[in-house]
Amino acid sequence: MGISRGLSARTLLLSAIVLLGLWSRQISANISINPIPKTPVVGENVLLSVYSDTVNIFTFSWYRDKNLMITYVPTANPPENIFPPYKGRLRGFPNGSMEILELNTNDSGLYIVEIQAIGQQILKANVTIIVYNVLTPPTLKIPLEFIAEGIDMQLECQVGSQNVDTYIFIKDAENISCAQTNQTNISCSDSSPFLNFHSIRKSDSGNYSCTIVNLISNSTSRPQELRVLVKISNVTISSNVTSAYLWASEDSINLMCIAQGDEPKFSWSYNGTSLSPDPRYHLSISNESLTISPLTRSDVAAFTCTANNSVSQENSTPINLTISWRPDGRIQCGVDLLEEEVRLQCSWPGGSPAADVQLQFQSINGTQQNEVTRNVSKDKVTVGDRLTCHGSQIDKMDKCYFDFVVPQAPTLLNGSMTSVKEGENVVLKVILGISSSNATKSLSAMILPAKFTWINQTQSIIQPNGRFEINSDNYSSRLQISQVIQGDQGEYVCEVTNLVGKTIFSFIVNITETGIGPSIENPGGLSSGAVAGIVIGVLVGLALIGLAVYLILREKKKTSNGANTVRSQAASHQPEGSNSMHLDKQGQVMGQTQSGHKLQITSQKTPL
Ligand SMILES: *[C@@H]1O[C@H](CO)[C@@H](O)[C@H](O)[C@H]1NC(C)=O
Ligand SMILES: *[C@@H]1O[C@H](CO)[C@@H](O)[C@H](O)[C@H]1NC(C)=O
Ligand SMILES: *[C@@H]1O[C@H](CO)[C@@H](O)[C@H](O)[C@H]1NC(C)=O
Ligand SMILES: *[C@@H]1O[C@H](CO)[C@@H](O)[C@H](O)[C@H]1NC(C)=O
Ligand SMILES: *[C@@H]1O[C@H](CO)[C@@H](O)[C@H](O)[C@H]1NC(C)=O
Ligand SMILES: *[C@@H]1O[C@H](CO)[C@@H](O)[C@H](O)[C@H]1NC(C)=O
Ligand SMILES: *[C@@H]1O[C@H](CO)[C@@H](O)[C@H](O)[C@H]1NC(C)=O
Ligand SMILES: *[C@@H]1O[C@H](CO)[C@@H](O)[C@H](O)[C@H]1NC(C)=O
Ligand SMILES: *[C@@H]1O[C@H](CO)[C@@H](O)[C@H](O)[C@H]1NC(C)=O
Ligand SMILES: *[C@@H]1O[C@H](CO)[C@@H](O)[C@H](O)[C@H]1NC(C)=O
Ligand SMILES: *[C@@H]1O[C@H](CO)[C@@H](O)[C@H](O)[C@H]1NC(C)=O
Ligand SMILES: *[C@@H]1O[C@H](CO)[C@@H](O)[C@H](O)[C@H]1NC(C)=O
Repeated sequence: MGISRGLSARTLLLSAIVLLGLWSRQISANISINPIPKTPVVGENVLLSVYSDTVNIFTFSWYRDKNLMITYVPTANPPENIFPPYKGRLRGFPNGSMEILELNTNDSGLYIVEIQAIGQQILKANVTIIVYNVLTPPTLKIPLEFIAEGIDMQLECQVGSQNVDTYIFIKDAENISCAQTNQTNISCSDSSPFLNFHSIRKSDSGNYSCTIVNLISNSTSRPQELRVLVKISNVTISSNVTSAYLWASEDSINLMCIAQGDEPKFSWSYNGTSLSPDPRYHLSISNESLTISPLTRSDVAAFTCTANNSVSQENSTPINLTISWRPDGRIQCGVDLLEEEVRLQCSWPGGSPAADVQLQFQSINGTQQNEVTRNVSKDKVTVGDRLTCHGSQIDKMDKCYFDFVVPQAPTLLNGSMTSVKEGENVVLKVILGISSSNATKSLSAMILPAKFTWINQTQSIIQPNGRFEINSDNYSSRLQISQVIQGDQGEYVCEVTNLVGKTIFSFIVNITETGIGPSIENPGGLSSGAVAGIVIGVLVGLALIGLAVYLILREKKKTSNGANTVRSQAASHQPEGSNSMHLDKQGQVMGQTQSGHKLQITSQKTPL
């Protein structure tokens, strides 16, 4: 009332008109906000500068979204009231402007100002600011060091919390255009941090980086190498073997591993486990080639090659080596004397593949692997029979014979004279052997076991006693007469009997009184002329006798030589192509028929 009373009605009216006029004039009042600077930067300040028609601001407030930041009453003291969390970060100005200090990226957003002026409606305005940072380098993230060709993959340009307007990807210093539509397996967008590869190719390998850009700066990552490798496939082993057979200890082999794919590395395994060191194994520097030299039987196993690179691994199908080896030694002809039968055997075992062995005897013709045996009755075996064994393994042949012949002593000169001083000792020896001069090299002694009977100059069988000592085995016999006397002089005979016949060997013992004679054991007392005479005599005589023997043998007579089960172990061999192994029986034996279906073969006595 005091005021009313102090003012004239005219003044009041005028004031009202003025106020009304102001109000009406300011109905159309508008305000606007300009951020200064236009692109605010992290760490700096921004002034949200209000332009308004209003001259008479009563109060104003700023909001961040709906949150009150500051109220400002120009007439108050202090004029501003700042709310958390903005305490210390804001400044208000009487014209409605506000300054935000030390910006950070979280200050980006919508700001609203409400202004109340005297006599006016509340005026509102808003502004959106983006606080830019000066970009720091991003990191280009490659998911794997090595990428297998064909997969889908993406690279990410990692920027942290920075505000980025544009992403640019660079390969080998050239920008990748995200606009390209076809002929490419890459997709990207300049607003996305991802570079996508669809079915990545080897040609996509390279050095990649990304650049990020905003209004005030740009920054580029360090380049990263993208390595795309073709996966390993089609691992195969090839060998240099051309022949059908690989021979243990003789052959060598080279195995080569081949794989498709990038940068293959090779390793080998044997029978499922990794190859253990062996001086026979030679690996090339890159391991892709394995040489085994020489091959052995133990190499009969599966060899596998494994190829791998940084993105894949694959095994070859195993390669099985088939190794062959020869049978043990040479083929063996064997004869066992059983009770009533003779066991014939051809044996060549131990080969791989097994040798085919063929046994031929009389009408028997048997073939088996490794070994063939046949039993024949002793009655059927006659002198002159031959057991033949043939062996064959792949390209290798072997052969041996066993001839059923009467006992022979090829080193013995029949009818030889031994001179000995009275009172000394004399030794007479028969050692059986095989006398085939042509085959001696390939023959190992193979003889039927025999029995020995010594007969003295009065045709009596010598019974060992006193001065007469006899030592015999199946293949040799030795008669020793000790302290000889004149009465011991004369012819001594050794009858040797085996399965198929008998041979008689004669010795002449000459007792000298003087004691000047050749050595006891070496019957070298004959002159060369005497020896030649003896030999010729023997040959002529035996030629006739041999014919007789042959005829007799055809009558299938035989001696029954008791049950001798000692096995004749030796074999006779002959190289392929040499056609005769026959022993020269003519020079060795003579035959004469005896009663009782027995064959007696007697060597001719050599007259002196
Ligand atoms: C109010 O705003 C309009 C358009 O925004 C502008 O043309 C006009 O000049 C402004 N008024 C004043 C008084 O500034
Ligand atoms: C901001 O202002 C514009 C016009 O100035 C208005 O259309 C809009 O609704 C306002 N936004 C807010 C959230 O107040
Ligand atoms: C895109 O593909 C079309 C047909 O598939 C072809 O004509 C055109 O040349 C290709 N563009 C590029 C850039 O390779
Ligand atoms: C990045 O900034 C430099 C100067 O700061 C400018 O020369 C260059 O063109 C910019 N690069 C991009 C991709 O904007
Ligand atoms: C595997 O490799 C062999 C020899 O290199 C080739 O002949 C064959 O075509 C390949 N197979 C595939 C499926 O690539
Ligand atoms: C296979 O390679 C081995 C080792 O190099 C070699 O000894 C052998 O003679 C080769 N075999 C053939 C058939 O080339
Ligand atoms: C191969 O491996 C099997 C089982 O691991 C084993 O029984 C066999 O004796 C091996 N063969 C060779 C030749 O090492
Ligand atoms: C290799 O030998 C193994 C076992 O010894 C066998 O299972 C496999 O079938 C053989 N592979 C070939 C190709 O002969
Ligand atoms: C023995 O038999 C084999 C076949 O089994 C034959 O090839 C061979 O000619 C025969 N030999 C004789 C002498 O009959
Ligand atoms: C011994 O070999 C010679 C020639 O090498 C031959 O003439 C002779 O018939 C052979 N004798 C026997 C018994 O094989
Ligand atoms: C021959 O041997 C028999 C039997 O041992 C004996 O009785 C006889 O005296 C021997 N004759 C001579 C000359 O030694
Ligand atoms: C025995 O030997 C001596 C001397 O060597 C010889 O003179 C003598 O004729 C021989 N006796 C007989 C029967 O051969």
